[in-house]
Amino acid sequence: MFKDFKLIAGRPVYIQVKDYMKSLILRGALQGEQKLPSTRELSLLLAVSRNSVISAYTALEDDGFAYTVQGQGSYVASAAASDSTTAVSAWTMDWKTRLSSRALLAEELDIMKRGIRAGKGTISFTSIAPDESLFDLDNVKRAFLDRMSVEGNVLLNYGYAKGYKPLIDYLRQYMEHKGVDMRGKDLLITNGFTEGFDIVLSALGQRHGAVLCENPTHHTALKNLRLNGFDIRGVAMEPDGIHLGELKRALEEEEVDCAYFVPSYHNPTGIVMSPEKRQGLMKLMAEYRVPVIEDGFNEELRYSGSHVAPLIAAAGSGNSIIYLGSFSKVLFPGLRVGWVLADQELIYVLESVKRARSIHTSTLDQSILYQYLLGGHLEKFLKRARTEYKRKYELTMACCKECLPYSRISGDGGLHLFVTFPKGFSTRELLAACREQGVIFTAGDIFFTDGTGQHTLRLGFSRVADEDIRRGIEIIGRTARQLLG
Ligand SMILES: Cc1ncc(COP(=O)(O)O)c(C=O)c1O
Repeated sequence: MFKDFKLIAGRPVYIQVKDYMKSLILRGALQGEQKLPSTRELSLLLAVSRNSVISAYTALEDDGFAYTVQGQGSYVASAAASDSTTAVSAWTMDWKTRLSSRALLAEELDIMKRGIRAGKGTISFTSIAPDESLFDLDNVKRAFLDRMSVEGNVLLNYGYAKGYKPLIDYLRQYMEHKGVDMRGKDLLITNGFTEGFDIVLSALGQRHGAVLCENPTHHTALKNLRLNGFDIRGVAMEPDGIHLGELKRALEEEEVDCAYFVPSYHNPTGIVMSPEKRQGLMKLMAEYRVPVIEDGFNEELRYSGSHVAPLIAAAGSGNSIIYLGSFSKVLFPGLRVGWVLADQELIYVLESVKRARSIHTSTLDQSILYQYLLGGHLEKFLKRARTEYKRKYELTMACCKECLPYSRISGDGGLHLFVTFPKGFSTRELLAACREQGVIFTAGDIFFTDGTGQHTLRLGFSRVADEDIRRGIEIIGRTARQLLG
C-alpha cells in the first residue's frame, strides 16, 4: 500500500493526498474504524510534507471519510468505508449485447480507430487540419481576456440554444457580404459543421430514405448519412465539379430527400465547382425540387481566381438551400463553432433539436471567436495563412508532378491534393509499402460512395514541413513506380 501514489504537477498536494486516501477507503484497502497512519508516517510514506497530510486529513474529515479521536489519531469513518454491499452490487454485464445498431455502426465506421498510426518520425500526409504554428495565439488570448472582462459572468452561465447573439449577428452580416439574401433566413450555431450536418439530417423526414452527393465526398459526411439511415447516391465528378449529366440521370432515376454538396475546395478532390456548373446544378435542383445541404467548407481559402459565391447566394430569396458554415480549417478547429443558415421556420425547429441534444454550443468558444472576428483578425490571419498554404500547395503540386506516376491531380487550393493513378493500381498496397519507409497518406477509397476509388489517394500538406513534403512525395513516387512494374 502507498506505493502507487504519484504526484501530478500543478495540483495542490493536500488534495492529491486526500483523493488518494479516499480511493483506498472506497476500494476497501482501508477498512472502517481502521486507524490511519500518523501524519508523520504518511508524509514519509508518500514523500510529501507533513502539512499537506494534516490538511488532507482535515479535508477527509470534512468529506465524512475520517474522524479524529483526540490524543489518538485519525480513523476511517465506517459509513464511508466499502462493505459487503459493494461486492453484491459490483456485478458485470456484457455491454456489447446492449448497444444500439447505430452505436455499433458508428464504431464500425470510425476510421480514426482503424487508420494507420504515425510512428515517431513518420511523414504523415493524412491530416488536413490547419497548421497550428500559424495560429494567431496572442490575438486569441486577447480576444478571450477582452470578452471575459466585458461579460465573463454571463459567458460562464447557460446560454441560448440558437447561439451567442453577437456572433449570430456578426455571421448574418458575414453571409450577407457573401451575397446571401438574408430575408426569411436565420442562423443556428452548432459544434462545427459536423454537428450541424447531423442536426439537419436527424431533423429531415425520410420520404425516400436517400441522399445525393458528389462521389467521392467528405468521409465524415458519408458516415453521418449512413448513421442517419440514408441510402447514398454518389454522382461522379469532373475537373470543374459534379457531372451535371449524371446528376440529371440520378435525379430522373430515383427520388431523394435532399442532396449534399461541397462546392468549394471539395474534400477530398480539392475541386472548386465552376460558376457555370453552379448555375446548372441550381437549375436541376429547382427542376426536381430537391433541397440542398451546402457545405461551405474552406470557401475562404481560395488562392487564385475570382471569388465564387456560395449556392445559397445564387438561390436569392429561395429557401431550398441549407448552408453549413465552419471556420474549422480557416481558423481553429478546437473552437467547435459552426453554423446552419437556412429558412427561418426550419431554424426555429432545428433550434429545438439542438437544445434537446446539447442545450447549446459553448458560449465561451463562441464569444472568443466573436471577439476575434470583431477585431478584424480573420482578414489579417487569412492573408498570412493563404500565403503560407499557397506556397505549400505549389510545392506539393510541383513535387507530385515531378515524382508521381499519376493519371490526374486535382486541387484548386485548400489544404490537400487528390491524386488519381492508372486504373487497377492499389493505393492501399502503396500505403502499406510507403508505411514501411516512414510515409503515410489517406487511401482514397474511404471517400467513395460505391466502393471504388482504390486507385486514388489524398495528400494533406498543411502540417508537413517543406523538406518532408519533398522527401515524402519522392518516396511515394518511387514506390508507386516499383509497384507499377
Ligand atoms: C468537407 C468538410 N466540411 C466541413 C469540415 C469541417 O468540419 P468541422 O467544422 O466539424 O470541423 C471538414 C473538415 O475536414 C470537411 O472536410
